Amino acid sequence: MFVKELHCLRCGTVHAADQVIQTCSCGAPLLAVYDSGQITAALRKEDLAARPNSLWRYRELLPVRDAAHIVSMNEGMTPLIPLEKLGRELGLTDLRLKDESPQPTGTFKARGASVGVSRAKELGVRTLAMPTNGNAGGAWAAYCARAGIRAVLVMPRNAPAMNRMEIGMLGASLFLVGGVITDAGTVVNRAITEHGWLNAATFKEPWRIEGKKTLGFELAEQFGWEAPDAVLVPCGGGLGIIGIYKGLRELQKIGWIGPKLPRLIAVQSAGCAPMVRAFREGKPDVEFWENAKTCAFGITAPRPLGAFLTLEALHKTNGCAVAVDDAAILRAQKALAAREGCHVCPEGAAPLAALPELRRSGIIGPRDRVVLLNTGTGLKYPETADYKAREIAPDASIA
Ligand SMILES: Cc1ncc(COP(=O)(O)O)c(C=O)c1O
Ligand SMILES: [Zn+2]
Repeated sequence: MFVKELHCLRCGTVHAADQVIQTCSCGAPLLAVYDSGQITAALRKEDLAARPNSLWRYRELLPVRDAAHIVSMNEGMTPLIPLEKLGRELGLTDLRLKDESPQPTGTFKARGASVGVSRAKELGVRTLAMPTNGNAGGAWAAYCARAGIRAVLVMPRNAPAMNRMEIGMLGASLFLVGGVITDAGTVVNRAITEHGWLNAATFKEPWRIEGKKTLGFELAEQFGWEAPDAVLVPCGGGLGIIGIYKGLRELQKIGWIGPKLPRLIAVQSAGCAPMVRAFREGKPDVEFWENAKTCAFGITAPRPLGAFLTLEALHKTNGCAVAVDDAAILRAQKALAAREGCHVCPEGAAPLAALPELRRSGIIGPRDRVVLLNTGTGLKYPETADYKAREIAPDASIA
């Protein structure tokens, strides 16, 4: 509501906020800046308790001007679940799962979609297009269906079959292309030039990140307006990391949290780890990762556009980037389900897979308050589920 303008973090150009806009003319992503003074005057954190249990409880810190344009299905305010057994095994006194599986469409992509589609509706967008690994496509298809906006989605052919069915049911136009999300992005770029649609790809428009930053708001609120010590985030495009960082920085600006930020730790699959490589080599941006392949399909992003912002968030919070292989991801997925009752998606299992090494190396200490972000439900990934049920006759006795 109090969004002031859009800033390019690369060249510093300032753009007006109330226009349909993509990236800066220099090609870099644009980030929304708010009037902190007006927010402080209009909202106290005590006011939140009486508000709806969705991310729109933070509406003064979000970009939609007129509440009539909000497209919502009660997304956000997801639970923070203690993982006592797994914490004990890893020698941690406080391990919790920020669980995004109850979100509409089953993943954290609902956050960016609710805010991004609401803002697109407010600005009069009729058709939007985006490349997707599947889950963002599902979320944007759902919110576009509610908003009456046409969604055109381009997805790699070997994305999980469930995502195709979901997007089809939600009435979006879906195109399948060989290759990875970068190839889908090339098709979208051509289409938006030809038809004048909005390109809603990660960082090609400024509003999706505004939904993701509510993860940072919620973590602070759920920890009593303090930051935990470390947050482990599955990282593809990097929006989860950048969102949490932006959200917490904005809370610092309005004085709701102190100077401490959690260490942000990006977890990638060893089959596609451009961020880990760039972090280790001390580079400010990523290089294209060849032959990307992992069972955690959502984090297959060989060269994400805003990677320099993700790397900056990792450095500024004294965090790091780590890679885990598919076997470790699937073991962690099974452990979260069978030990803690949390059936997470493979992407959401990657943070747990990264923990043993982070404990061994001392990056995470025994009394650190640690949050693992599970980005979605395991129910969307029947192909990674490990189950063996025995066939029996109706008169069989079982034990
Ligand atoms: C389930 C899931 N987790 C994580 C990600 C990666 O998200 P980000 O772009 O924020 O790194 C995706 C992206 O498709 C996803 O679908
Ligand atoms: Zn610029």
